[in-house]
Amino acid sequence: MSMADAYGSHDTTDEGDSTAVVNTPRRLATAIRDLTKEYVLKSETVRALRGVSFDVPEGDFVAIMGPSGSGKSTLLNLLGCLDKPTTGSLLLGTDDIASMSDDELADIRCQRIGFVFQSYNLIQQLSVVENIQVPLYYQGKLGSDERERAVKLAERVGLGDRLDHRPSQLSGGQQQRVAIARSLVNDPFFVLADEATGNLDSVTTEEILTIFDELNEEGRTIIMVTHEDDVAERAKRIIRLKDGMLHLDEVVSEERRSEARRLQRENVVELLARE
Ligand SMILES: Nc1ncnc2c1ncn2[C@@H]1O[C@H](COP(=O)(O)OP(=O)(O)OP(=O)(O)O)[C@@H](O)[C@H]1O
Ligand SMILES: [Mg+2]
Repeated sequence: MSMADAYGSHDTTDEGDSTAVVNTPRRLATAIRDLTKEYVLKSETVRALRGVSFDVPEGDFVAIMGPSGSGKSTLLNLLGCLDKPTTGSLLLGTDDIASMSDDELADIRCQRIGFVFQSYNLIQQLSVVENIQVPLYYQGKLGSDERERAVKLAERVGLGDRLDHRPSQLSGGQQQRVAIARSLVNDPFFVLADEATGNLDSVTTEEILTIFDELNEEGRTIIMVTHEDDVAERAKRIIRLKDGMLHLDEVVSEERRSEARRLQRENVVELLARE
């Protein structure tokens, strides 16, 4: 039996029996079991994650919340293959991350994962289009097709008229949009965002969340860490961590989501009217 079967992952395209599709679980984007992460320092060991388990079906939109130090970034870094767990298992699709070499992890990161950080992490010497192309550069893809793709993504996030600007010539929200476009350039299966709106005003936060809504509607799985309740309510599900453990896992109803969306848009219209 494969690990995916062991975790109850099913293909929704069941052959033969068309009635089976109705209640068949969606395929899992990730399955986490008893995940721990310890950081060993000289004088102490920090237990950042102490046994976390949950599943994320493909197409889900999850907000991860919890107090500072509760392990949110640690968890996101593991999901993004930026680090390896100490114990436990982490499946991405059907691949077990815990048992992979650093090179294999780097390949998965390049091919399947888009990461958006709070601090944008753009390269100051590169233009908007060049920054968007960086993940492709690491894969040795540097042709005109790739540039074209980066230009299209810049346009998609509303930066079609800023292609040759450097990060220092952009606002915080524009820099975050470059980071989102960069996270999409490898057509990722997973978009992971760590406090992507943490440094942004409400108008720009709304713009970024609207992009996330669109990406999710396209079927991409999104996991975002946030400290803000109104941002978290835009997701379909909220997972709360506490002391490195899963504290709560709640579904956000469609009503609550659209109410959060409505309130935020109203707020934006009000703010813009005051300017
Ligand atoms: N590289 C590291 N080396 C040692 N300890 C670390 C490292 N990264 C994180 N930690 C510790 O692990 C725990 C969890 O950290 P983490 O960054 O995951 O928290 P967080 O929930 O993202 O917090 P915040 O909301 O402040 O970003 C903290 O106690 C932190 O000090
Ligand atoms: Mg963090």
